[in-house]
Amino acid sequence: MSDVARMDVEEIKNHFRLALVGGAWYICMQFSLLLYMIHLRRAGAVTVGDFMFVMTVTYFLVDNIWNLVSQVSDFASKLGDLKSSFSVLRTPQELIDKPDARDLKVLKGEIIFKDISFKYESGEQIFHKLNLHIKAGEKVGLVGYSGAGKSTLVALLLKNFKINGGDILIDNQTIYDVSSDSLRAQIAVIPQDTMLFHRSIGENIGYAKENATQKEIEKAASLANIHEFIFTCASGYDTLVGERGIKLSGGQRQRIAIARAMLKDAPILILDEATSSLDSRTERQIQASLNLLIEDKSKTLIAIAHRLSTLKHLDRIIVLDKGKIVEEGTHEELLKNDVSLYKKLWELQAI
Ligand SMILES: Nc1ncnc2c1ncn2[C@@H]1O[C@H](COP(=O)(O)OP(=O)(O)OP(=O)(O)O)[C@@H](O)[C@H]1O
Ligand SMILES: [Mg+2]
Repeated sequence: MSDVARMDVEEIKNHFRLALVGGAWYICMQFSLLLYMIHLRRAGAVTVGDFMFVMTVTYFLVDNIWNLVSQVSDFASKLGDLKSSFSVLRTPQELIDKPDARDLKVLKGEIIFKDISFKYESGEQIFHKLNLHIKAGEKVGLVGYSGAGKSTLVALLLKNFKINGGDILIDNQTIYDVSSDSLRAQIAVIPQDTMLFHRSIGENIGYAKENATQKEIEKAASLANIHEFIFTCASGYDTLVGERGIKLSGGQRQRIAIARAMLKDAPILILDEATSSLDSRTERQIQASLNLLIEDKSKTLIAIAHRLSTLKHLDRIIVLDKGKIVEEGTHEELLKNDVSLYKKLWELQAI
């Protein structure tokens, strides 16, 4: 059972317990009051009118208190949500732009990682003086074992973390001199784990481009092979995706991320393929939409893929192992080398 489903079950159980205790208490109280009122009536201490008045007032009073209590507990849980959102807002920005940061201008899309060294604050050294030159318009694949540093490399390109040494240049401009907003505007990312907002599907795609029209959103969705699915949803593009997109499957979320990238139409594209396994039909649909992006000659592409077949047609494949480039070449070139790590990975998948 997923964590979300488990949380839901726990929540239902808690509500059930609360309702059971509250209900039992309410029945006991009403019953005791009824017995007491019968006793008073028998003794002639109250009239029938008094009897009815007390019973009716108690009923409404208890009902209103019950509503109040459940609303207060609802409010308390919403307050908890609000507090956790503040903790996200309070997270310090790792890397603040220089006060005189310029806008990044991308004309060709050449990327250079120059002698970069990096370690996470809490972890060990990931890269030590790594060099990688990606030509303008080149389509590069990154492969390697899990934990080799593939996602970290693209996170550094997006300035999500500060490098400890070296430089990263895009079209001869160091990314540390340009504003993060302009940098991220030029790079479309299809992340390993697509984050969706608790809004409609249309808004989730459209946020990639300011003032995107409905027509543009639908075109991007068609190219990403998700338009037909959206059409079958109850409210089409207005269907809400649920918190963090839980109402959508992994493959659907991935295609929404592809649609976003299509809409953004940035000169640099990063694809960090999801590791979750997909059925062969969805995989084919995703591959077809990715091919459209890959074939676009004007874009520079960095593709991290776990299914190596995705990378077969790329210009160059770079094999990373423990933060080091151990091999590079085209798919065919790497397979020719009998002892290459790439060949080993390829054969493992072919089984
Ligand atoms: N935010 C972080 N803080 C500390 N260490 C991290 C963080 N993110 C990743 N790491 C560590 O850095 C190393 C490289 O991680 P990275 O995510 O780049 O691997 P990857 O090659 O993308 O793996 P995968 O194929 O599983 O996606 C791993 O050892 C990981 O534990
Ligand atoms: Mg990764």
